Amino acid sequence: MPQTVKGVISAAVGEPVAIANIVIPDPGPGEAVVAIQACGVCHTDLHYREGGINNDFPFLLGHEASGVVEAVGEGVTEVAPGDFVILNWRAVCGDCRACNRGRSHLCFSTHNAEQKMTLEDGTELSPALGIGAFAEKTLVASGQCTKVDPDASPAAAGLLGCGVMAGIGAAINTGGVGRGDSVAVFGCGGVGNAAIAGAKLAGASNIIAVDIDDRKLELAKGFGAHHTINSREEDAVEKIQEYTGGFGADVTIDAIGLPEVYKQCFEARDLAGTVVLVGVPTPEMKIELPFQEVFGRGGSLKSSWYGDCLPSRDFPMLIDLYRQGRLDLDGFVSETIALDGVEEAFHKMERGEVLRSVVVI
Ligand SMILES: NC(=O)c1ccc[n+]([C@@H]2O[C@H](COP(=O)([O-])OP(=O)(O)OC[C@H]3O[C@@H](n4cnc5c(N)ncnc54)[C@H](O)[C@@H]3O)[C@@H](O)[C@H]2O)c1
Ligand SMILES: [Zn+2]
Ligand SMILES: [Zn+2]
Repeated sequence: MPQTVKGVISAAVGEPVAIANIVIPDPGPGEAVVAIQACGVCHTDLHYREGGINNDFPFLLGHEASGVVEAVGEGVTEVAPGDFVILNWRAVCGDCRACNRGRSHLCFSTHNAEQKMTLEDGTELSPALGIGAFAEKTLVASGQCTKVDPDASPAAAGLLGCGVMAGIGAAINTGGVGRGDSVAVFGCGGVGNAAIAGAKLAGASNIIAVDIDDRKLELAKGFGAHHTINSREEDAVEKIQEYTGGFGADVTIDAIGLPEVYKQCFEARDLAGTVVLVGVPTPEMKIELPFQEVFGRGGSLKSSWYGDCLPSRDFPMLIDLYRQGRLDLDGFVSETIALDGVEEAFHKMERGEVLRSVVVI
């Protein structure tokens, strides 16, 4: 029997989000219904509401979530009702060219639930990143459920489902940060501070945080930054060179997605270093770089989708590190809110007051 539950809908560009009744079909083959326990508010949800991702309104927002599997459809073997899971937005297919070459974190054919969740009048919803978890329950492909240790706090665990994984992975998987590296992270929101935490986990010996908001820089110190730069007050590129003996950082990470920040990342990097773009640009943005320097500086310019993670490999491992006290996931949870607090949480994010507001159900 389809069920009707509450969910947070973005109906039109820029309009405040609102709670609506949504209809969840029973899981079909390869699908699962998950009772959501917690879902973080990520900047990407706001990008959706602002029409920055696509125009497929109405959206069912929320995609950084954990919960308990309630029911599974035919043929589902990887999870069962009662499992505590983190939802991921890249369920790998296991059979595309990337998967067949052993690079399933790059899977070109990730999938979501085939059936649609709807409003009560039958209007089909577009779930954010194929998840839609600002809701009491949601329908996903079973491969989007990654089982982890149920002792983890749902609010903290859910954050691995998007921003925190993207940040940690940008440093460790995409940037390849290793022992003794210098790393500069631009933008110290949930994603950027996770990149700092990731760089620390990987053994970076010099971590530099850049933001325009001193509150965020203070938080960055707690996650492992050795130096902080307010780029409104100081020249970030010059200061990074100063803090790295005149060289620039081995890895620079743009965790905002702005052309001017990307350029700073490019210039603040040591020769043969790596630039990682994990912040998401909007369609009208363009970058201009001196082409000769792109060649002359060597190294690499990389983009980081979801921190190049493989959920089945990375989520359980990071939850273990969290439970051992080596990764402070709780530090990202600025506040817990109810479903009706999402619109206000967007404003808090815009005012820079939070790393993550987390809806707890
Ligand atoms: N690649 C991925 O898979 C992935 C996953 C999740 C989120 N994201 C993206 O990562 C980005 C960051 O997300 P978030 O949730 O951390 O956002 P956020 O709004 O919490 O953080 C952004 C931070 O950047 C700072 N900032 C803004 N302009 C700046 C500037 N010019 N110079 C320096 N600092 C500046 C802000 O003060 C803030 O601290 C977003 O674009 C989001 O869509 C990407
Ligand atoms: Zn694949
Ligand atoms: Zn996200």
